[in-house]
Amino acid sequence: MIRTVRSAARLEGTVTLPGDKSISQRAILLNSIASGSAHVSNLCHGDDRASILSCMGGLGISISAHSNCAQTGAEECFLVEGQGPDGLTEPDSVLDASNSGTATRLVAGLLAAQPFFSVLTGDESLRSRPMDRIITPLSEMGAHIMGRDDNSLAPLAIRGGNLSGISFEQPVASAQVKSSILIAGIHASGETTVVQPAESRDHTERMMHAMGADITIDGPRISVRRSTLSAMDVAVPGDISGAAFWLVAACIHPNARLTIRNVGINPTRAGVLDALQSMGANIQIKNVREIGDEPVADIIAESSQLHGTEIAGDAVPRAIDELPALALAASLASGTTTIRDADELRFKESDRIVATVAGLSSLGADIEERPDGMTIRGVDSLQGAPCDSAGDHRIAMTLAVAGLTATGETTIAGAEAADVSYPGFWHTLNSLTPD
Ligand code: S3P
Repeated sequence: MIRTVRSAARLEGTVTLPGDKSISQRAILLNSIASGSAHVSNLCHGDDRASILSCMGGLGISISAHSNCAQTGAEECFLVEGQGPDGLTEPDSVLDASNSGTATRLVAGLLAAQPFFSVLTGDESLRSRPMDRIITPLSEMGAHIMGRDDNSLAPLAIRGGNLSGISFEQPVASAQVKSSILIAGIHASGETTVVQPAESRDHTERMMHAMGADITIDGPRISVRRSTLSAMDVAVPGDISGAAFWLVAACIHPNARLTIRNVGINPTRAGVLDALQSMGANIQIKNVREIGDEPVADIIAESSQLHGTEIAGDAVPRAIDELPALALAASLASGTTTIRDADELRFKESDRIVATVAGLSSLGADIEERPDGMTIRGVDSLQGAPCDSAGDHRIAMTLAVAGLTATGETTIAGAEAADVSYPGFWHTLNSLTPD
């Protein structure tokens, strides 16, 4: 689908975000293997929601949607009927995680511990993403896992059970891999330890701890032992990865003021706020509070005079999904921005270094590919033009936001990719542009 975005004279209004995708998937998965039932409200939207619901449904878990949820006061919530650590049933067909790397890798950790046969697959993008990074450690724990291309790609055929704890040094920071091993670890004998080279998002650790898992965190070392989780209601905070588009939109637009409510600001996710602030962004973080185990705030972002920055090292995992949007901000900042140590961008829903450089270049940005990131020299303005999402939700939304400030019309091919994480994105975009 092609969508056209026109330059907007003003951006104003209040944004309500979909629930955080990472927290949503964990809330559904961990409650499925907990004892007791739990309500999950403000679940993420879109294909990523469907991915985790369909995988857990395929494993025999009952998850039902309810409106006007009395327990949480939310308009909609999902009741997950947990079956305890041994309550999953062998799926009678292939489990399809669609476009979701998170669902694939987290569910694979769970399947590694199950004494039955299962097959896990996804769409074309998912089937090209590296799975050896979970196959190797989960096999070392005792699971039998086979994949295409010499055990590196999905579909994955898994026969699990009887796992033993391992100590695993992660070669690259990845929350999906860390979580996969920790989920297997709460079913394994002995202790399972993951050592992180840099801190990736810690939602799994927080949620496991709150649900009563035997988990300890000692600097970069996270250890778990066999545990039965207790069901826990989760009110999912708004997705900071979705908020990033509106933050950048407000900062690069000359006439903007946006309020974004209920944004999850977990420090392991908030790299986008730090990066924008280091670029001189006009951002106010208000009303900081805790919802469950996660910090949340309202954020006001306004037109800003941005300048270049460097995003590298430990800052990268904290902003990994927001780097395409930050590259757009850098394209309209004064001076040069360098994004380094971000090779992982090549293994996302698309090669996001290639897709970001191609998309923003077609709108007149001065952006160059590096092996591990991008170098961006700010320009005065972007020009509307045809461009392509590369089938990647975050690229589609980055280009749409670029279109709000670019001259004339920006036409985005493959715009439907936004539905993976943010089906309401286009509606919100229209609502913020009074003209
Ligand atoms: C995610 C972790 C990140 C991120 C992805 C969601 C998660 O990937 O890119 O969109 O929910 O664990 P890494 O595994 O590279 O950290």
